[in-house]
This record gives sequence, structure tokens and C-alpha cells, in this order.
Amino acid sequence: INHVIKRTMSSGSVINHVTIIGAGLMGSGIAQVAATSGHRVTMVELDEKLLDKARKGIEKSLERVGKKQFKDEESKITGFVKESMNRISGSTDLSTVVKDTDIVIEAIVENLEVKQKLFSSIDSVAKPSTIFASNTSSIPINEIAKGTQRLDRFCGLHFFNPVPVMKLLEVVRTPETSDATYTTAMDFGKKLGKTCITCKDTPGFVVNRLLVPYMAEAVRMLERGDATARDIDIAMKLGAGYPMGPFELSDYVGIDTTQKIMGIWHKIYPDNPLFEPIPMLNKLVEEGKFGMKSGEGFYSYKK
Ligand code: NAI
Repeated sequence: INHVIKRTMSSGSVINHVTIIGAGLMGSGIAQVAATSGHRVTMVELDEKLLDKARKGIEKSLERVGKKQFKDEESKITGFVKESMNRISGSTDLSTVVKDTDIVIEAIVENLEVKQKLFSSIDSVAKPSTIFASNTSSIPINEIAKGTQRLDRFCGLHFFNPVPVMKLLEVVRTPETSDATYTTAMDFGKKLGKTCITCKDTPGFVVNRLLVPYMAEAVRMLERGDATARDIDIAMKLGAGYPMGPFELSDYVGIDTTQKIMGIWHKIYPDNPLFEPIPMLNKLVEEGKFGMKSGEGFYSYKK
């Protein structure tokens, strides 16, 4: 038994420098938590304007965190924001940045070809020890890793929105992910202050695999006229103890996002009825009704 334990407890390495590719909603959140937990962070974006936008967003979010943490002690808040921001730099030159980084976390558009191309383009430039990770919600990690020669140093790190607030991190192991990579990723996640769970490289990992079909089934109920959206939401809050009903949640997540995830899965698993396209979802997306962010989804948010 000891022999087995020793073999599976392969020790990982320590992450100091984190490179985040794509500093949008998720990437800037990941950059923020990596910086506040003491890492040196480089964000890579397509242009300077996007980098600037990310920096401003992070600064605002840090001020909120600082206010909560240090109450009204202005100097402590300013110090916290400044110190964290000093750990974050930006670049538009990915191939130079990855020459000296311990982990690359990709958070760009949810598109297999684009992600594959990105990783294969940096595979030969990054240090051999650098771990590659994707924050994808719906694309198999192994597919993204295919264009690289480092399948053993590839994993999924699936964060949740908003990253500074949501406690969970799904650490995704493919059959090729080495024990050392897995251990490093888990230790890194814990250092970020997240509660990490381990999961296999299956569609949607754990949370989305359960949540997306649940939201889809709620839309199918509504389509059939079994109950109103409001009543279904009330039912799940008061009857199942969920903090939000499925339609409130869909509007919060973005109806376009849910529809896109279902579309990706339906393409990969055409025989699974859970991932069948839903006419009502498609119609809402066609009409630009994405939920809270567009002012209307299942509910209206117009003032
Ligand atoms: P976003 O659209 O807010 O950000 C993507 C950013 O990537 C943009 O700023 C874009 O300029 C940048 N980008 C695109 N191509 C690039 C390249 N080649 N090099 C550098 N930067 C590039 O998208 P979001 O919501 O942050 O999603 C990013 C990833 O995270 C996706 O894979 C998504 O599925 C995943 N995800 C999203 C969640 C969400 O709630 N939005 C939750 C968990 C994962």
C-alpha cells in the first residue's frame, strides 16, 4: 500500500508567475485572485485598449474587496489595491511572455479551433515545465490539448463567475494529465483561496453538466405550458431550496451562453436527448434577448 501511495502522491511544483490569456470577464477575475494571493501575473490581450479596460475593471473590483476587508481604513485599502495592481502586468506579445511562466491559463473565446491554435502556437516557445490550462466551460480539454506535445502538463482549471466571489474551482484531469501536474494545479487552486474539486474531462465537468440540462428542462416545461417561468422559479426556490430559480439563473448566466454550450454538446453527442436544441432558447437568442446583460431575457430588466 505504501508503495502505491508514494507513487500516486507525486509532488508538484510551486507556481510563481501566472500568464492569463484573454482578460475579459473571466480572465480579469482570475488575474485579480492570482495577484491578491501573491502571484506575479501577466495578462495577455489582443490590444492595449483591452488591457487597459481589464486593469480598470480589476482596480474597481479590488477597491470593493478592500473596503470589505479593511472596513473604512482608507490607507489600508489603497495599499492593498496598489500592492495587488503592482503584481499585474499586461502584454500583447504572447510568445515573449510564455518564455518565462509557470502556468498559462487560457480564457479566450469558447471556440475549439481558436483555442487549439493558440496552445499549439506557444507549445514550442514555453518552458518545458510550464503547465497549460484552459478555463473552457464546454469544450473537452483533451481536444484543446491535441495540438501540443505536452498532454501530461495540460489540465482544465474551470473557474466560476464572478471569480473573486465564487469559491469553487473544478480541476479537470484528462487521462494524460500527470500526477505532478494535477498536484501542482490543486495546490495552486488552494493558494488562490478556492475550494478545489477533481473531475474527469467529461462534458460540462460537474457543475455545468448538472446545471445546463436542468435549465434546459425548465425551458422545455415552459414551452409545453406546464407552468409559468415565475411559478417554476418560485417552486425551485421554495421547494428545492435553490437560491435562484432556473429562469433567474439563465438570465444571470446569459441565455446565449447556455444556448452555445448546448450547441457544442449537441454537436459532439448528437444522440443525447438532454442536449437537443430548444426552439424557445434559439428564438430568444435570435431576438437578442440574452438576459440581464441585454435588458431582457425570460424577465425584463429595463428601468
Ligand atoms: P470574454 O469575451 O469576456 O473574454 C474573452 C477575452 O479574450 C476578450 O477580452 C478577448 O479580447 C480575448 N481574446 C480573444 N482571443 C484572444 C487571443 N488570441 N489572445 C489574447 N486574448 C484574446 O469571455 P469570458 O466570459 O471571460 O470567457 C472566457 C472563457 O471562459 C471561455 O472559454 C468561457 O467558456 C469560459 N468561462 C466563462 C464563464 C462565464 O461565466 N462567462 C464561466 C466559466 C468559464
